[in-house]
Amino acid sequence: MNALLGQIGLLSARLLAQGSDRGWMPKQRSTIAPEVDAIFDFILVVSVFFFLLIVGAALYFIIRYHRREGDPMPGGVTHNMPLELLWSGIPVVLVCIMFWWGFKVFVDMRTPPDNAYEISVRAQQWSWEFWYPNGISYDELHVPANQPVKLVMTSEDVLHSFYVPEFRVKMDVIPGRYTTTWFEALYDDEGSNEYPLICAEYCGTDHSSMITKVVVHTDDGFVDWLANADPLAAIPEELWPEYEKDPDKFIKDHPEIKGLKTPALMGQKLYKRKGCSQCHSIDGTRVTGPSFLGIYGKQEEMEDGTTVTVDANYIEESILNPNAKVVKTYPRGQMNSYQGRITDREIAMLIEYIKSLGQK
Ligand code: CUA
Repeated sequence: MNALLGQIGLLSARLLAQGSDRGWMPKQRSTIAPEVDAIFDFILVVSVFFFLLIVGAALYFIIRYHRREGDPMPGGVTHNMPLELLWSGIPVVLVCIMFWWGFKVFVDMRTPPDNAYEISVRAQQWSWEFWYPNGISYDELHVPANQPVKLVMTSEDVLHSFYVPEFRVKMDVIPGRYTTTWFEALYDDEGSNEYPLICAEYCGTDHSSMITKVVVHTDDGFVDWLANADPLAAIPEELWPEYEKDPDKFIKDHPEIKGLKTPALMGQKLYKRKGCSQCHSIDGTRVTGPSFLGIYGKQEEMEDGTTVTVDANYIEESILNPNAKVVKTYPRGQMNSYQGRITDREIAMLIEYIKSLGQK
């Protein structure tokens, strides 16, 4: 409950901190946002106008013409052809405008331009993973400004929904199926260019923490970000053993690989980025899966009664085939395989991180 309230507070603070172009709506930070808002405003104004007109007229007639003591009984009321045509005709025209206008914007939103930059999105309980054309994955959505971006999305487990209020873009993310959406982000010379990205479909206990951010870059900024986003991938194959042997020396010798840290610290980042943190605590708290605190080297009893030592092999097996050996008292089938979603280097870094959390 506290976590939920915390998330609501965080989200409201973020939304407020974004400020607003239009008072009560989030900023318009994509090309489609003004079109979505225009039709929303039109429907809102029409609805409020007719609500006031109709309810106001009804109230006025009730007061002005209600039957008083001693009034004669009213006769039957006949109809008025011109009046009825008018109050049928006007709404027909209005809903036709709403349909035609809304359909036009809907079709625009559903049709990504051919030259769109494509990013794959994988949603899982309760994190987002974005895959870029150069093969790297990240837990935040980074996009170039002023260029159409197409998202091809799927879910590892249950129904989620991709939602960026500033872009006016929302699309369901469905297991066993690919859905797409697209947008063209605008660059804000004065603003932070960071917006909340949230899951808009209740997807389980930690739905409210399934939140990350979109970062909009200039063209150059995006190329730069993409080149430096994954320092692990930037280490050439032949130099990898050198990094594993003496990380500190390697980092000193290769300042050109930005953001590179020791294996345990790289693993700590991956623990969040890959979504491990959603189900494995690092302080001993029991959540969906076993806590990583002091687990390395521990003897764990499995559900079939056998005992396994938690070593590098067991951790690797549990990442790639989570249901092979499940620790006793923990439910099976809670975790999906990371096969194809994690590199050998990343597994090695995670093992180093788990080691760094204490050994028994
Ligand atoms: Cu994913 Cu809510």
